[in-house]
Amino acid sequence: METIRGRRSREMNAIELQEALAGFGNISLDLGTGDGRFVCKSAEQNMKTFFIGIDSCRENLRVNSQRKLSNALFVIANAQSLPRELSGLVSSVSINFPWGSLIEGLLNNDAHVLDGLSRVSCPRAGMDLCLNADALASAGWALDSGANQIERVLNAAGWETRSRAGLEARDLRDVPTTWAKRLAFGRDPRAIRLSLRKSSL
Ligand SMILES: C[S@@+](CC[C@H](N)C(=O)[O-])C[C@H]1O[C@@H](n2cnc3c(N)ncnc32)[C@H](O)[C@@H]1O
Repeated sequence: METIRGRRSREMNAIELQEALAGFGNISLDLGTGDGRFVCKSAEQNMKTFFIGIDSCRENLRVNSQRKLSNALFVIANAQSLPRELSGLVSSVSINFPWGSLIEGLLNNDAHVLDGLSRVSCPRAGMDLCLNADALASAGWALDSGANQIERVLNAAGWETRSRAGLEARDLRDVPTTWAKRLAFGRDPRAIRLSLRKSSL
C-alpha cells in the first residue's frame, strides 16, 4: 500500500506493516482523513493505539503526515479499494464528515466500500460516523433521511447501531477534525453522529 510522509510516498508491504503495528493492541482507521488532524490528535492522546489515516487526496496530507508520531501512519487509498494489507486488523473505524464518492458509496450501498470496511475490520470492531447536512444535501439527501439511509445500509452490512445523536455547533467545536471546526463556525452546523459495532454474525 502507498504510505505518505510530506511529499514522499513509499510502498509498505504486509510484513513492514506488521512490524510497525507490533505491540499495539488496537488499530484505528480514519477513513477520509482529510488533512490528518484527527489522526495526529488521537495518536498523541492514545499512545497504546496505532492510528491509520486514509484519504484518496494526497495534497491535504502534506503537512500533518510529516509529524513524527510512532503510532500514526498515513495511506493514500480510495475507500472503494482499501489496502489488502489492512485485512482483519482494524478494531475501530472513524469516518468524519464524508463527502464525494465516500458518502455516495455509503448512501448507495456500494459493495466495494461496504465489503472493504468489513474486510479490514476485526470481529466486534466499532465504527463512529459523523454526517453533516451540507455533504448530504450535495448528494441529494436531507440530514435525517440521509442519515437514516446510511444507517440502514450499514445495519444491512452487519454493523449494529449502538447510538445516534444530533450535533450542533457547540458539539462540533469539541470534535478534533478540521472539518468539524469549519462546520462549527459555518452557516449550517447540523450533523449526526452514529456509533455502530460490527455484529458477530
Ligand atoms: C469533508 S472532508 C473531511 C476530512 C476530515 N475527515 C475532517 O473531518 O476534517 C472529506 C474527505 O473525504 C475524502 N474522500 C472523499 N471520497 C473518498 C474516497 N472515495 N476515498 C477516500 N477518501 C475520500 C476527501 O478527499 C476529503 O478529504
